[in-house]
Amino acid sequence: MTQDAWTIVSQHHNRLRDASLTDLFAQDPDRFQVLSRSLDDLTVDFSKERLDAEALDALLSLCSAAGVENRRAEMFAGAHINITENRAVMHAALRATADDGLSVDGTPTAEIIDPVLDTFLSFADDVRRGAVLSAGGSRFTDVVNIGIGGSDLGPVMVARALSPYRGQGPRTHFVSNVDGAHLRDVTSGLDPKTTLVIVASKTFTTQETMANATAARAWLVDGIGEGNAGLHLAALSTNLEATAQFGIQRDRVFGFWDWVGGRYSVWSAIGLSVALSVGGAEFRSFLEGARSMDQHFQTAPANQNLPILLALIGIWRRNFMGCPTVALIPYDQRLERFPAYVQQLDMESNGKQTTLDGQSVSYATGPVIWGEPGTNAQHSFFQLIHQGTDVIPVDFIVAAQSGSDLEEQHTALLANCLAQSEALAFGKSGDEVRSEMATKGHAEDEIERLVPHRTFPGNRPSTTILHKRLDAFTLGRLIALFEHKVFVQGAVWGINSYDQWGVELGKVLAQQLIPIVGGAKDASEKDSSTAGLVARIAELRG
Ligand code: F6P
Repeated sequence: MTQDAWTIVSQHHNRLRDASLTDLFAQDPDRFQVLSRSLDDLTVDFSKERLDAEALDALLSLCSAAGVENRRAEMFAGAHINITENRAVMHAALRATADDGLSVDGTPTAEIIDPVLDTFLSFADDVRRGAVLSAGGSRFTDVVNIGIGGSDLGPVMVARALSPYRGQGPRTHFVSNVDGAHLRDVTSGLDPKTTLVIVASKTFTTQETMANATAARAWLVDGIGEGNAGLHLAALSTNLEATAQFGIQRDRVFGFWDWVGGRYSVWSAIGLSVALSVGGAEFRSFLEGARSMDQHFQTAPANQNLPILLALIGIWRRNFMGCPTVALIPYDQRLERFPAYVQQLDMESNGKQTTLDGQSVSYATGPVIWGEPGTNAQHSFFQLIHQGTDVIPVDFIVAAQSGSDLEEQHTALLANCLAQSEALAFGKSGDEVRSEMATKGHAEDEIERLVPHRTFPGNRPSTTILHKRLDAFTLGRLIALFEHKVFVQGAVWGINSYDQWGVELGKVLAQQLIPIVGGAKDASEKDSSTAGLVARIAELRG
């Protein structure tokens, strides 16, 4: 069944192999209407992808043949779809209301989640209004979130995106890298007397986070004394035993649950730094935005369903066009960390080569996701996207309304975003280059010499995600759009998007290497490269 559906999509790909976007647009003046969809102010335009309505229908059949809708129902029903860890995948419950009726292992999730949500948002609001004060009785001016991966990328991205909503909230800082320079560079500008340190770690065992947490605690103790440090610490974790052992007082520990994956945890207490920054009301609006996407994802017909459509476009690019990477380019400076966030979300979820029943996949799975904000990206790597030898599909994200008072600059930002997708799609022909150069008075031989260099092939696919304005609601909705896109792709590929065994080996080896690099153990059991580098490091460190 699925094989037949793959074959049919392949036939459409063969049919369209030589079609150019220029021709496709010329053939159908309604192409935008046919190949774009909206949910309220959110529009996804995939008319500049190299497919047509028939190919899209075939992709939708593939989605249906792969059982995506059943799998979606299983996820929302709390089934243990993370089969290698025997866990439910219930991050959507974090933004649901009691009326949504979600439950996990027989318990309504609202009963578990709501008290914790209320508690950590009250704590955030109390800090913001000065009801929770530092040991010395002053307001907290700064918050340092110590975490890595999902315990960092979500909070840092969201706090940055929602920075205009901070009001009188404390400044937020983020430390993730085990490189001590990260912690030192952040704390060197801060006063421990007015700084709250949050240790964010689902497991509370992650090497980098525990090293930074220990050093940050020492920094607090140096500044305010051992007896006071507890009032400047909070923890976000599923491991309450470990937070207690670390010495964080119980009323400063905000928990979550093993059915929330790290890269899906920004909606949980892991979002405390965001709530401290923008307040509980904005945080709730962020959750509501995500919930609106959850509802859309569960109820919209597949051919109107934005996460499903985005996922299928990705599958078309990856499995049929053979594109190994996707550039994610927000034309929004405040979304500067969005590509890094989606990079973890997508690559840690779908960077898998084994199917749910333990077989090796015989097709490509998750692509490399990377990107930077536009317009900066135009002046760094866009050259290769336009004229390089690989086809790199681009996902653009842009808001119609400005996030600043510099309206004209926003007009320029929007124009640049549209210009890039236009240039990628339609390129510039040799004849266009000739006539342009002739108008400027270039000599004939000069023109012919330069035509090959100045020609853009075009026919490079992109999707544009347009929304009205970047605020907490729209950001929540946007993140959930990408989360569900990843889910659909994982379901079509038949892989488990919710484990991450591939990062474990490196963690284990790093633990083994610490005493070797530190000189407490020799490197004789290591390969010659590792042993050679250890020896060279020892020389260079003196
Ligand atoms: O890098 C692997 C990983 O397990 C991520 O999945 C996770 O987000 C990150 O480490 C941090 O884990 P923790 O929150 O347990 O410290």
